[in-house]
Amino acid sequence: MSSPVIDIDYEQPAPQGSVCDTRHAWARVPAEPSPHERIALKEHIRRLLRERNAVMVSHFYVHPDLQDLAEETGGIVSDSLEMARFGRDHAAQTLVVSGVRFMGETSKILSPEKRVLMPDLDANCSLDLGCPVDEFSAFCDQHPERTVVVYANTSAAVKARADWLVTSSCALDVVSALHAAGQKILWGPDRHLGDYIQRQTGADMVSWNGACIVHDEFKALELELLMKEHPKAKVLVHPESPSDVIALADAVGSTSAILNAAQRMDASEFIVATDTGMLHKLRTLNPGKTFIEAPTAGNGGTCKSCAHCPWMAMNGLVELANALETGAGEIHVDPKLGLRARVPIDRMLAFTAGLKNGQAPGSLVTGIGAA
Ligand code: 13P
Ligand code: SF4
Repeated sequence: MSSPVIDIDYEQPAPQGSVCDTRHAWARVPAEPSPHERIALKEHIRRLLRERNAVMVSHFYVHPDLQDLAEETGGIVSDSLEMARFGRDHAAQTLVVSGVRFMGETSKILSPEKRVLMPDLDANCSLDLGCPVDEFSAFCDQHPERTVVVYANTSAAVKARADWLVTSSCALDVVSALHAAGQKILWGPDRHLGDYIQRQTGADMVSWNGACIVHDEFKALELELLMKEHPKAKVLVHPESPSDVIALADAVGSTSAILNAAQRMDASEFIVATDTGMLHKLRTLNPGKTFIEAPTAGNGGTCKSCAHCPWMAMNGLVELANALETGAGEIHVDPKLGLRARVPIDRMLAFTAGLKNGQAPGSLVTGIGAA
């Protein structure tokens, strides 16, 4: 059973004669600075980070320059779970989050006393935009007997309506522990990730009908053809992808799980079904291995089909320098809402920390949820 799809208008016609790329999406993708400007901007940002006692947290999908800067200056590049944990635990008074809005909001909710800046506050996510709180709340009200588990790619208000928050790195563990404890789940908003978890755990789940515009575009038929061309390649898939693409995977997981699988697996070629921003880290950490992009509808398909998130692409060096200089792009979350939204986030962080320390999953979910 699913809720209705919330339509969002992403499409912009590409100018005549051009191919599809993120610059044609409605998101404002900044122009690439010249090599000379890049060097000067990076130096300027390093200085500003020091002066402002700030640390940078970047997602794997943002521009390589922003990933490298984060690492060079004592921050991290990681998946959405580790971004949240790192931001919470770091002593810096200012966090610069290069990624999308829900990542900045999660950091602010976990560290209300810190200043959280983002290069562009309009960098959003189709899952967040496709799950408005009023409709989602009404969906939850129809199923009061179910434990509400929401994906991190949601607004603070949707998080505040949830019992549990999960990211793709811990969703399977959390839902499987809840299922073992006899709980029925209301899941939102990503239908593909929800379906994947349902198939893996056998949990009783109803799902919101959202999708990631990037991962939703991967195509199983074309992937099979590519696999025939590269018979020895291993296939790495993010679980926001459709089920027929997931079915072809050698490894399915979050961005950090994809990175770990590429390092661990004894293969020299990989086909990667996730945002192309991921290729930077995959290639730098695995110089002897080849990474091939999984096929989408391709150029001339739609502006969504270039396998690069238009909102992640809004993070640029100029915007980052401006945020640090002027305080533009500061994230604000209503403190009362933040306190409520923090409950499921803290549960997720405690659950994953408990698992790491060898605690039994069942003991980490007892007494939390609808059942
Ligand atoms: P990860 O938590 O796997 O980094 O995913 C975040 C995301 O937005 C993927 O599209
Ligand atoms: Fe959202 Fe998809 Fe972009 Fe991730 S890649 S931020 S899920 S739209």
